[in-house]
Amino acid sequence: MSNKLKFPAGFLWGTATSSYQVEGGNSNSDWWEWEKRGKTKDESGVACDYYNRFKTDHDFLTQLDCKAYRLSIEWSRVEPEEGIFSEKEFVHYREVLKDLKNRNIKTQVTLWWWVNPLWFSKKYGFHKKKSVEIFSRYVQKVVDELGDLIDLYQVFNEPMVPLGQGYLAGVFPPGYKNPIKFWKALNNVASSHKKAYQIIKEKYPSVPVGVSYLYNWYESENLGFLVAIINRLSKWYRVNLIDNKIKKSLDFVAIQYYRLGRIKFDWRNIKMDSKNQVYFGFTIEENKNNLMKWITYPQGLYKVLMEVKRKHNLPIYITENGVPTDIGLDDEERIKFIREHLQFVHKAISEGVDVRGYNYWSLLDNFEWLYGYEPRFGLIEIDYKTLERKSRKSFYEYAKICKNNEVEI
Ligand code: BGC
Repeated sequence: MSNKLKFPAGFLWGTATSSYQVEGGNSNSDWWEWEKRGKTKDESGVACDYYNRFKTDHDFLTQLDCKAYRLSIEWSRVEPEEGIFSEKEFVHYREVLKDLKNRNIKTQVTLWWWVNPLWFSKKYGFHKKKSVEIFSRYVQKVVDELGDLIDLYQVFNEPMVPLGQGYLAGVFPPGYKNPIKFWKALNNVASSHKKAYQIIKEKYPSVPVGVSYLYNWYESENLGFLVAIINRLSKWYRVNLIDNKIKKSLDFVAIQYYRLGRIKFDWRNIKMDSKNQVYFGFTIEENKNNLMKWITYPQGLYKVLMEVKRKHNLPIYITENGVPTDIGLDDEERIKFIREHLQFVHKAISEGVDVRGYNYWSLLDNFEWLYGYEPRFGLIEIDYKTLERKSRKSFYEYAKICKNNEVEI
């Protein structure tokens, strides 16, 4: 027997992509250089060539009946040299945003998605105090040039991920393993967020400004009395550390949920290997059937939503949720993933959590950072040789959800 779960009127169904992962050719950035140094499985190259194909890619959003689209501005494009902004690139981003507005799609813009201009990373980096001033100048320029076309801002995307991976684990640029630099960068990112909040609000007081947190659900096994301590510590690190610094400058919280992290302790593995999720003996259980070894756990999204409501009592947007699969159009796994997660989103809403929207990650298969092009997150499959796009079965299923504002379980 099928059961239809209706969502509140005006619920913002959407998808998401990030500029670096889909545009292609972002050669003026620290990530590009990182790739050239052989630090990633593949090089991003032309990616999906969204930079040139955005209009036809937006046709997919229209077909889906998406109400919102989350995308990002590439700082290294619009400010290719220190203090010199590219008018041409602002014209480009205006066209991208205008195309979305013409389709009646709300624009949810992220200002910083893990990538820095090369000049910035060479001369400064977020561990330098001056970064706050420099980042604020970029934010001001975006607000001046594009602000009339932006419906919602996320200043930083999952700030703790690049801070941890780039300043403690050393696997993202700038490649440090340095707690002092980490601490400085953390504080400068927090100050940059607060400054950006002020800049945006000064010109557009009613436009919501927030942040996105990677908010997976963590549990521990076999750890006896340590369970509570470990859980607390891991939450403190992943969320509270930055959230405590910026929470007064948030109009909403965006959560990005993917999986269950089941923490275990293994005496034989006392080393730091964050790529394989080993942190001085603590490891995260792996799911052999998933391309990125992630454990799918839809209930966790409900638990996260309840927790965020208790903590913040602000509107919540789920701005990423998705599953990495292998190539193939008949992606039953993704359909099941979406349906089950939405069932728990619905449960949270019916218990009073103010969830305003859901963006499936991702519209297109794209460049998955260290993992290159292997994991496929898209509703649309990309043939990376020809750049041909093909709609997966999940695309049609998600279209039904967006059109009918309901999910069938
Ligand atoms: C990031 C995306 C990434 C996705 C899947 C999120 O943490 O914001 O850039 O592609 O997870 O790993």
